Amino acid sequence: MNNLQARIEEHIETLSKFTATPGQGTTRLTYSNEDKKAREYLKEKMKEYGLNVQEDGLGNIFGKLDGTLPDAPSVLIGSHFDSVPNGGSYDGPAGVVAGLEVAALFAENNLKPKYPLEVIALVEEEGSRFGGGLMGSRGITGLLSEDEFKNLTDHDGISTVEAMTKIGLDPTLPIKRDPKTMKAFLELHIEQGPILEDKNIPIGVVETIVGLTQFEITVEGQAGHAGTTPMDRRSDALVTAANMIARFPSLATEEGEGTVVTTGKLHVFPNGANVIPKKTVFTVDIRSGKEEHIQNVIKKLNRLIASYSKDGIHISAIQQLYMKPKKMNQEIVSLLKQTSNELDIDYFPINSGAGHDAMVLADVTDVGMIFIPSKDGLSHCPEEWSDSRDIAKAVDILFQTAKKLTEVEKK
Ligand code: GLV
Ligand code: MN
Ligand code: MN
Repeated sequence: MNNLQARIEEHIETLSKFTATPGQGTTRLTYSNEDKKAREYLKEKMKEYGLNVQEDGLGNIFGKLDGTLPDAPSVLIGSHFDSVPNGGSYDGPAGVVAGLEVAALFAENNLKPKYPLEVIALVEEEGSRFGGGLMGSRGITGLLSEDEFKNLTDHDGISTVEAMTKIGLDPTLPIKRDPKTMKAFLELHIEQGPILEDKNIPIGVVETIVGLTQFEITVEGQAGHAGTTPMDRRSDALVTAANMIARFPSLATEEGEGTVVTTGKLHVFPNGANVIPKKTVFTVDIRSGKEEHIQNVIKKLNRLIASYSKDGIHISAIQQLYMKPKKMNQEIVSLLKQTSNELDIDYFPINSGAGHDAMVLADVTDVGMIFIPSKDGLSHCPEEWSDSRDIAKAVDILFQTAKKLTEVEKK
């Protein structure tokens, strides 16, 4: 194992220890104690690699290697460092670690870029704590306003500002970043699907990212006694939610072309075995490579809501996120392919079914993304695993690409 691969493994291993669920995968919610420990580690490594470290008003971390051109925009490289509940060690961190190691290679080779190189570690991409997802990148681009950010609360009613303050972050710092300060963004991510592994190819060059939307649906009925209330006199919020959710697979298959609809989160109130549920709150995640399919499913979801809103049942929906499908920047896609060829590393053009910060940053700067294989195609679970040799290959590609984009002067 070479040094680069050993360092990659050490970073991944260390970060995986910052979990609220040891032995049951990575649970690193934004602004939690585990976030605090992971951010301390990342900031320390950034400093060790000669980067100038800053955080913004969302707690995103930036480690900058200055360029020789005054006031020039940065080439950003990184990903997110939060996780889903009981997730894996690679979704997000693999990309942050790759960014760190590209910076380490700049330092080791004493490279002086014309344009700054900035390693970035973003918060709340998964939306596991505050909902919606892509919060760090949406804040930077202004898609999420400062007011919207400050009004977000978690499941326990704790606001973003309270949670940030609790781990010593400063919510008064700026959130939105001037697009003129960004030249490009490169993100490495695990594939989270089976294509690369099946083809035995180490690198996917991402061409497009799926469009996605998320809703939080609240169904309100009437609580009552489970033993004494006749079946025909109930307004059961959970039965209504269950009937709606059971329709989602067919809504997805009717659309076809890879359209997917998922309910992954459901809360029942008051959640008593002998109480008819008064309220259920659940999420609906709709994705497709074609925006029209997402729009069609939204229309059908609205019809479903209307048809179930009767007999003492009230249903409301909040749209937490809407992202159109995105194309990666063609010049960066070509550059990534050309660099892979130069390094003699096999690649495959691929479309992403997962959402990524890259799709948000694509609105304000030139974005390119590469994938590495996921073992058994698994992700968002403790079994998630990728080979550090593939991460090292990706780092080589990103290093050479970042050298070109930052226009290094000294070899
Ligand atoms: C992030 O993993 C997403 O695709 O929701
Ligand atoms: Mn994820
Ligand atoms: Mn991710």
